[in-house]
Amino acid sequence: MRLPKAGTIEVNPSILSADFANLADEVAVIEKAGVKMVHLDIMDGHFVPNITIGPPVVAKLRRVSKLVFDAHLMISEPARYIEHFIEAGADHVTFHIEVADDPVEIIDKLHKSGRSAGLCLNPETPVKSIEAVASLCDMILVMTVHPGFGGQEFMPEAAKKVIEVRELVGPGVRVEVDGGIDPQTTPIVVSYGADTLVAGNAIFGELDRIAAIEAIRRACG
Ligand code: DX5
Ligand code: ZN
Repeated sequence: MRLPKAGTIEVNPSILSADFANLADEVAVIEKAGVKMVHLDIMDGHFVPNITIGPPVVAKLRRVSKLVFDAHLMISEPARYIEHFIEAGADHVTFHIEVADDPVEIIDKLHKSGRSAGLCLNPETPVKSIEAVASLCDMILVMTVHPGFGGQEFMPEAAKKVIEVRELVGPGVRVEVDGGIDPQTTPIVVSYGADTLVAGNAIFGELDRIAAIEAIRRACG
């Protein structure tokens, strides 16, 4: 599966706020809502103060879903684990610039395996830090909360970096936002140039996941 080509706005549900005891059902519901991708938050308890899932869970999910798997690695030493996520069936892998010693090497490895590559910026990380390598990526992820937990409050100042990132990469690269995205914050990030909207709590915190996805779509304008 491939990342949808740039030019469309995609709602990208994060299963971090889903029922982890029923992940297959949760993924099936969002598939029914017509989303193209699902955002998988991988946390190591080191780069971020929380631990979630690893390659074995991604591999099991791969068997039950045809969605594009967008793996967001919030882990130290991403280079050590990239291959494991490729093998597990991730279609797109995003890693953090703050912990990448050789981002080009990781991007190359992903591309050689037929996967797309993404770089992520924490709220306090300047856009300048990805300037040299951004054009090699298929998607840039701008964190709009401090990574680690779902359900946090949207950070308007961090979101403004989307404008700079969009200027840097042009229209051909996806710009993703992650953290506090809901029908209220969606118009803000879309106006800045974001086209890939990760939402966890705003979808899986609602009883009717499909209606919640539609509400975010409507807010895109
Ligand atoms: C946070 C994760 C997010 C998280 C977003 O560290 O990277 O993907 O699921 O959750 P919400 O949408 O609830 O802010
Ligand atoms: Zn995420």
